[in-house]
Amino acid sequence: MPFGPQQPTPISHAADRQRTIYVAGASGIKPIIPISETELQSQAKQALSRKAYDYIAGGAGKEHTVSHNQSAFRQWHILPRMLRDVSQRDTSLELFGRKMHSPFLTAPIGVLELAHKEGDLAVAKATSSLGVPMIFSSQASYPMESCSALMGNAPRWFQLYWSKSDELVKSLVQRAENCGCEAIVITLDTTLLGWRERDLNLAYLPFLEGKGIAQYVSDPVFQQLMAEPDLAAPEKRKVTATTLQTAFKLMNRYPGSFVGNLRSGKPLRAVRKFIDIYSRPSLNWQDIPKIRAFTKLPILLKGILHPDDAKKALEIGIDGIIVSNHGGRQIDGAVSTIEMLPEICQAVQGKIPVLLDSGVRTGADVFKALALGASAVCLGRPYAYALAIAGEAGVREYLLNMMADFELTMGLAGCKSLSEIGRACLRPEHPF
Ligand SMILES: Cc1cc2nc3c(=O)[nH]c(=O)nc-3n(C[C@H](O)[C@H](O)[C@H](O)COP(=O)(O)O)c2cc1C
Repeated sequence: MPFGPQQPTPISHAADRQRTIYVAGASGIKPIIPISETELQSQAKQALSRKAYDYIAGGAGKEHTVSHNQSAFRQWHILPRMLRDVSQRDTSLELFGRKMHSPFLTAPIGVLELAHKEGDLAVAKATSSLGVPMIFSSQASYPMESCSALMGNAPRWFQLYWSKSDELVKSLVQRAENCGCEAIVITLDTTLLGWRERDLNLAYLPFLEGKGIAQYVSDPVFQQLMAEPDLAAPEKRKVTATTLQTAFKLMNRYPGSFVGNLRSGKPLRAVRKFIDIYSRPSLNWQDIPKIRAFTKLPILLKGILHPDDAKKALEIGIDGIIVSNHGGRQIDGAVSTIEMLPEICQAVQGKIPVLLDSGVRTGADVFKALALGASAVCLGRPYAYALAIAGEAGVREYLLNMMADFELTMGLAGCKSLSEIGRACLRPEHPF
């Protein structure tokens, strides 16, 4: 099945990938992005402004959950088996009727323009060239239609923040369906924004500069909502040089001409309306089934951490779960995802796919998640770092590295395909 507008370059096996890197190295050519995630993060830090880097890397509070997400993977060890003829390795799987080369997707990451001016467009091109499903964020920097136009038949999903307006929810979901999205992911853990110390220290929220609100300002229902009178009149504040700079960025960023935007005052109204309605703190289990009236697509819930919530999701007929703590950006001190995965899989009993994100950094992490019952994982911050360093090509290289790393780990552990990866492939650090 063709993935991109052109046929994607066939993905080579891990051994070819290693060879390509080593042979280029012999001619003095280094990989365009670092292979190790820690180095990737530190190069991205150098490439980005402090505000942009802190927004992406930061988490809630003291960031204990950000680090715990990764250290919790180290609580599990792979127990390899030998002499199992792993010359032929197949990392493919089928998810919601779509064949995938490898068990991962890109997690929805908002405001990607902070990492690179091409933002989501670069990620759309990189993922579609490899057939890796991209999950468009509600907080994207480019409208979903612009990304889809670059992706041919490549797989994509849409992530939804349930707005205060059901009409807006309907419109976003139907746009997603119209632009070829194959599933809707409802993120549950961000009905309120977490206490993010780095952003608060810098007093920086990108949305106030009009960044990350492209799905809204391109939406016909949002446009209508903007026309409604503004009930919450803005507080009068002293105008400083920074206020003017922020206003300048906003006028420039908003669709249309700078002068037109200045005259109409639309960008400011859009930001205020967005802040007012983008999420619904009252969201509850009774709201979720309403989405079935808006779309026939499979629905996944992202942000599930408690097995009872997983059971509840099953009861209301949800099609899939993403075990996630939003990369530690919401509750500091929250459980890691990998520690909750076995109980959630136990609760779900294989009836629907369970995906996982938060802290996945290496092929071994992907392997461990699969061994504990995940069908696939979502890759997060590292692809944003790769984007910051080398744009579309950086994201593509990062994904190719993950594919190779996972394939080698799987083969070296004695597994030829995903069906052979199971609980018996792991030992806990501290036996229960
Ligand atoms: C900068 C940033 C923006 C994010 N934006 C969204 C978003 O718009 N919607 C969403 O559901 N999750 C969002 N997430 C969470 C990711 O989808 C994912 O759960 C998280 O990045 C996983 O953690 P990891 O990156 O540490 O692996 C965001 C994460 C980051 C780092």
